[in-house]
Amino acid sequence: MPRHLLFIWLAMSALSGCVEITAAWADLDPSGKETARPPLAIPSGPQAVHAWESESRPDLQRRLQEAIYGIMPSNGQTAVLEKRVLDAAAFSGAGTLEKWTLNVRGEFAEAAFSSGPMQVHVLIPHNRPGPHPIILIQSFCPARSTLQHPAMTDPDDDAGSGGIFGAIATYVFGRFICTPPVEDILASGYGIAIIDQYAFVPDDSTAGLATLREFAKSNDETKTRWGAIGAWGWLYARVAEAVERDPRINADAVIAWGHSRYAKAALVAAAFFPQIDGVIAHQSGTGGASLNWNKPGESVRGIIKNYPHWFAPGYADFIDASDGKGPRPDLDQHMLLALIAPRPVFLGNARRDVWSDPNGAFRAAKGAQPAYALYGATGLNVGRLNEFEPAAELAFWLRPGTHGVVEEDWPAFLQFLYAHFPATNRKSCASKASKCQ
Ligand code: GCU
Repeated sequence: MPRHLLFIWLAMSALSGCVEITAAWADLDPSGKETARPPLAIPSGPQAVHAWESESRPDLQRRLQEAIYGIMPSNGQTAVLEKRVLDAAAFSGAGTLEKWTLNVRGEFAEAAFSSGPMQVHVLIPHNRPGPHPIILIQSFCPARSTLQHPAMTDPDDDAGSGGIFGAIATYVFGRFICTPPVEDILASGYGIAIIDQYAFVPDDSTAGLATLREFAKSNDETKTRWGAIGAWGWLYARVAEAVERDPRINADAVIAWGHSRYAKAALVAAAFFPQIDGVIAHQSGTGGASLNWNKPGESVRGIIKNYPHWFAPGYADFIDASDGKGPRPDLDQHMLLALIAPRPVFLGNARRDVWSDPNGAFRAAKGAQPAYALYGATGLNVGRLNEFEPAAELAFWLRPGTHGVVEEDWPAFLQFLYAHFPATNRKSCASKASKCQ
């Protein structure tokens, strides 16, 4: 689907969900459904971290891939084909804007694939000495909407932010849905990389599925075929690998940022790939941070029907459980969050975005807590959804309003980054117990 149609379609689906979005409020108290989550088995004793990292964690990764995201490639490489400076003094001199051309290559058990040349736009801050933490961004907006700069003139970007489509998206999903506050981010000492995930696996049930089937032809098409959320997650890790090799970037501070479908992908990236040092997952919802069992908001049945390319076909096994009709599954999304421990995760939510089920995301964070405790990390240290602790490794953010990226969101994202990835330190030991001992 061309991107301008995708915008319109997104706006229409958001508006058609208005009854739920505007009439319902997320419950701020998580205790009502406290037991509705399968136990997370965490090893104990002196070898507990070793047992978790060498056995329990890989086993959980395998089970989540088989059941929900599809089997990941066994191997991946990223080649940087070109780095071109577009503007050495972009955004009023706040940073250098570059266009990188990458080729990513992956291997499945019996098949290999390569992306062909794909673009990443990179901004390196000027105001502080590096190496800089960097925020990797995937979004449904074209790169020239995300970085509003005269050098961003890709003719394939048919939904420029100045046009009607950008205006609709901004009206429905907030002023910052396409365009982050680039100058503030650079001034705070953070680099930015905008990934064109659409050129890798298009967000389209026909073209996306065709690409996924082609790439993952050795996976079982009826159960474990790669889904786009898994593929975009894998792509975050491939881009992380490229930016880590650049001496201007702090290889210990690579943060995957995503909103909604890309928040799901950002969580997947961190859960399965060590290249990701932290995550900002804003309104990730179903298939992201929100628990699957007996869930309010978007059902597993609904997400599979509307987005057949996002998950492995096996995710359909969760349909009855998500409707509250089947037995409680023995896997759920708190396990995805547990795989990220002890790295910092920001879970963004809005009170009236019940579609994304903030309460289920909070309970998932609680369920992941034992994995953070294993590393001696704080994890989640609040009892209700509206208590924001940016310095906690599981930082839960709930603002008023609905689905989208609005005025209050970026300051909260930045507070989390300042706490865990200070722009002047090479390594943030407080948040990386295992790496810093
Ligand atoms: C739809 C979809 C969500 C998704 C969202 C988005 O609302 O149902 O699962 O997170 O689109 O990506 O904006």
